[in-house]
Amino acid sequence: MSQRIEFDFSTGRELPTSERYVLVNCLGEGGFGLVYAAENIRLQSSVAIKFARDPIYDTRIVAEARAMAGLRSTHSVRIFDLDFFQNSRPFLVMELLEGRSLEKYLNDVGTVAPRVALEWLVQLCSSLNEIHGRGFVHCDIKPSNLHLADQVHRGDHIKLIDFGAVRKFCGGKDASTSIHNLGSPAYLSPERILTSNAQITDDIWSLGVLLVQLLTGDLPFQGKDRSSLYSSILRDPPRIQCALRSGPHRQLLTIAARCLQKRVEDRFSCVDDLGVELSKVSQFETSENEESHPQSGMRAVADCSAPIRRVVEFNFTRGCLCDLREG
Ligand SMILES: Nc1ncnc2c1ncn2[C@@H]1O[C@H](COP(=O)(O)OP(=O)(O)OP(=O)(O)O)[C@@H](O)[C@H]1O
Ligand SMILES: [Mg+2]
Repeated sequence: MSQRIEFDFSTGRELPTSERYVLVNCLGEGGFGLVYAAENIRLQSSVAIKFARDPIYDTRIVAEARAMAGLRSTHSVRIFDLDFFQNSRPFLVMELLEGRSLEKYLNDVGTVAPRVALEWLVQLCSSLNEIHGRGFVHCDIKPSNLHLADQVHRGDHIKLIDFGAVRKFCGGKDASTSIHNLGSPAYLSPERILTSNAQITDDIWSLGVLLVQLLTGDLPFQGKDRSSLYSSILRDPPRIQCALRSGPHRQLLTIAARCLQKRVEDRFSCVDDLGVELSKVSQFETSENEESHPQSGMRAVADCSAPIRRVVEFNFTRGCLCDLREG
C-alpha cells in the first residue's frame, strides 16, 4: 500500500488527511480544485479525489458532487462518494481515469481527423443528453475538462469531467442559488456573457467551439484580452481556418457553425437534434468515395489532391461555409 503523505513536496503543499483515503500524487490543478490520485485504504483500490484549493470554494465541491451523483453515461466521469477530511473539509471521490486530458493531447497533435472528431462529439452528446435530461447545464466544456483513454484509436474513450461550473435550470429558467464560476471565456456563448441564466444551448455553443478547435487547431473567436474576446463572441461571425479537403470535414464545420449561431433559436435546440445531424455525417463518411450522397444531397469532394490552406467563414445568408476569397 502507498505511504501516507501529508506534505506534497512536488507542489510544496500541506495536504489534508482522511481515515479512509491516502493521497498519492497530484493529477491536476484547475482554477479552483486540486485533483489527486489516492488509495481507498479498506478496498485497496485506486481512486481520484478532488477538493477545493481554498475553503471558500468548499460549497462548490459539495454542489459538484451532488450534480455528478447518479450519472450513468460511460462518457461522464463516475463519482463514488462525497466525504470529509479530518479537518472537516469536503472532497469528492471519483473513478481514477487513465490517459490524459484532451488539452494535452491537442497540444501534441494539433488537430484530429473528422472521423475522430465525429466519434468524440457523438460520445459527448450521449453524456450531455443525460446531464440535460436531469435539468443541469455543464457550462464548462473545453479540452482540459475532457479526458481521453490511453488508446485513442479503440473508440469509446472520451469522458466529460469537472462538474464544478454546473448549473441547474428549471423550465428554461436558471434555478441556481449558489455562486458559480462563469466557465472558460473562449467557450462562452454570447448570452452567458450577457446574462447569468444557463441554458442547454450554452453547452451546444461550447460544443461548436470545441468542434472547430478539433478540426482546425484554432479557436473560432479570439481576442488579445478578455474584453476583446467577449466583443468578438458577441459581434463577429466564427472564423474558421481550415484545409478544405473532404466532405465530412466540411460538413462537420457546417454543423459547428450552426452551434455557433448568435441567435439561440438558430442553434440546435438540444443535443438530440445535434446528434441527428452528426449521424448524417457518419453515413456520409462511409460513402465518401461515392460521387454524391442521397440522404444529405451533398456532393463528396475526393480527397486526392494535396490540402490547400484556405480561410473559410460561415456565410449566414447562404447558410454554408465559404472561401473568403470567393467574396
Ligand atoms: N477522475 C480523474 N482522473 C484523472 N485525472 C483527473 C480526474 N479528474 C480530473 N483530473 C485531472 O485534473 C485536472 C483538474 O481537474 P478539474 O478540471 O476537475 O479541476 P478544476 O479546478 O475544476 O478545473 P478548472 O480550471 O476547469 O475549473 C483535469 O484537467 C484532469 O487532467
Ligand atoms: Mg477543469
